[in-house]
This record gives sequence, structure tokens and C-alpha cells, in this order.
Amino acid sequence: MSDSANSPEPPLPHTPGAPARHARAKGEPRFPDGPKADPAGSHFERRIRSFQPRRSRVTAGQADALQRLWPKWGLDIDGSRTLDLPDLFGNDNPVVLEIGFGMGEATAQMAAADPATNILAVDVHTPGQGNLLNLADRNGLSNIRVGNGDAIILLREMLTPDSLDGLRVYFPDPWPKKRHHKRRLIQPEFLSLAATRLRPGAILHCATDWEEYAEQMLDVLTAHPDFENTQADGGFAPRPDFRPLTRFEGQGLDKGHVVNDLLFRRVPHADRPPAGV
Ligand SMILES: C[S@@+](CC[C@H](N)C(=O)[O-])C[C@H]1O[C@@H](n2cnc3c(N)ncnc32)[C@H](O)[C@@H]1O
Repeated sequence: MSDSANSPEPPLPHTPGAPARHARAKGEPRFPDGPKADPAGSHFERRIRSFQPRRSRVTAGQADALQRLWPKWGLDIDGSRTLDLPDLFGNDNPVVLEIGFGMGEATAQMAAADPATNILAVDVHTPGQGNLLNLADRNGLSNIRVGNGDAIILLREMLTPDSLDGLRVYFPDPWPKKRHHKRRLIQPEFLSLAATRLRPGAILHCATDWEEYAEQMLDVLTAHPDFENTQADGGFAPRPDFRPLTRFEGQGLDKGHVVNDLLFRRVPHADRPPAGV
């Protein structure tokens, strides 16, 4: 990453004679042309969330990318409309949803390696959104769109049935304390919702460095009627070549954690004949 992307926002320039720029007033948007602070608003506030709302420092490079590129490649997850994915990406290529891309390095690498697949990458983390937009811009990646907000609202309110060709959830927040387990993303209800948006045959790919969460994922996925394990032995999968090492994965490996991948297939709809019949 370049220095400018990592350096803090510079002091505001002040031209002698020009009015001094004031500090942002209460309620004034942080990035007027960028992601909204709370796109879905209070309507959705009562649900248990799988993420911790946090206000993180945005570097000058990330702020610039958010202002410059959000109107082109960003979308707020506000539940206000159904997305037309071919329109969003400008082509009919398959679309994979990635939930929780963090700083987006792995997302950018996967987009570069497979330009014929569109990646709809969603996170609530503003610095990461800026970072991923920067990476896409610098590497000429036109197959990434960056969603700002809760992926549950995206799945439930903004995506149509069978619209996704894959779903990636890499190193979701482990929520290690027992009383927080209800916040974990991979649960039966989440899988039921995700299954409606995945076309039959689509792959759900999860990875985690939290062994007890990995076992929970394996249990709920194995028990879910809409998914089948791609592994003949019913266990974890070897890490596929297409998944790069992620930032959180690196931190887990440094601590001696074991990483597990899970590759499950969306089974054909029971009420429809198999394709080609
Ligand atoms: C532990 S980080 C992993 C980031 C990245 N995948 C990696 O491996 O480096 C999990 C990310 O998921 C995001 N996240 C959690 N729940 C989410 C949700 N419901 N919708 C969107 N993003 C979510 C968090 O904001 C966080 O950035």
C-alpha cells in the first residue's frame, strides 16, 4: 500500500484571504459523496448484529477514494430498492457476494485473478471501503462493487432469489464469549436466507481460524437441507488456490491458530426439476 494511503488525513489547507474551513457540524455527513453513516437507519436497529459499530480513523488516501470513487463503485445498503445486478456491474457475468471483506486486500486479489466474475463486497468498515476502492482503482479492477452496511439487509431486502453465484465469508468475527455466540453470522437462519439468494449449484465458502466456530459452522451447514458438503468425507476442505491469505487469517496464524475452510454447495430446489430436464 502507498504511503499516502496510510498517512493520516492532512491538515486542511488554508489560503490567505479565503474563509477558514470549519469543523464538521453535528449531523453533517463525513463524506458528502461517500458512504452514509447508517444507511439502513433506525428501522433496523433492534436486530442483533454480527458486527460492532465502530468509528475508525480514515487515512487521507482512503478519504480521497471514498469521495472520488463512491459515486461510481459504492452502494449504501439501505433496503430501499431491489438491485439489478447486471445493471450494477454493466455486464451479465456471475456475481459472488463477499460478506465482511475487512481491508479488502484478498478481495482485490481475487477480483484481479478472475475478471470474469463480479464481486459484490460488503462491509460496515469505512476505512476498509476506502482501501478497497483504492485497490480497485489502482489495479484497474472494474468487477468490484463496494457495499456499505449490513449484509443481512442486502440479502433480505435488496437481492432477488437465485441472483448469486457464490457467497464468501472469510474470517467472520468469532464472537468468542458464549453470551455473544448469538451474534455469530453463520447460523441456521442466516443460511436459510442466504440459500434463497444463491442459485442451485452455487458455492458457499467460509473460512475461520477459530476452531470451535469452525466446528459450529460444519454442524449447522451439514444439518441444513439447502446445502451439501463438497467434501466426500463430510469434513473441512483444503484451502482452495483461489483464496489468498487474508489480513485476519495472517493475524490468526501468527497466534498459532488452525485455519479451516468449508465449501458447501447450494442444492437444487426441491420444487423445480433439475437444470436441463
Ligand atoms: C474479522 S473481520 C475479517 C475481515 C476479512 N475477511 C479478513 O479475513 O481479513 C470481519 C469483518 O466482517 C464485517 N461484518 C461482520 N458482520 C457483517 C455484516 N452483517 N455485514 C457486513 N459486514 C459485516 C466486520 O465489519 C469485519 O470487517
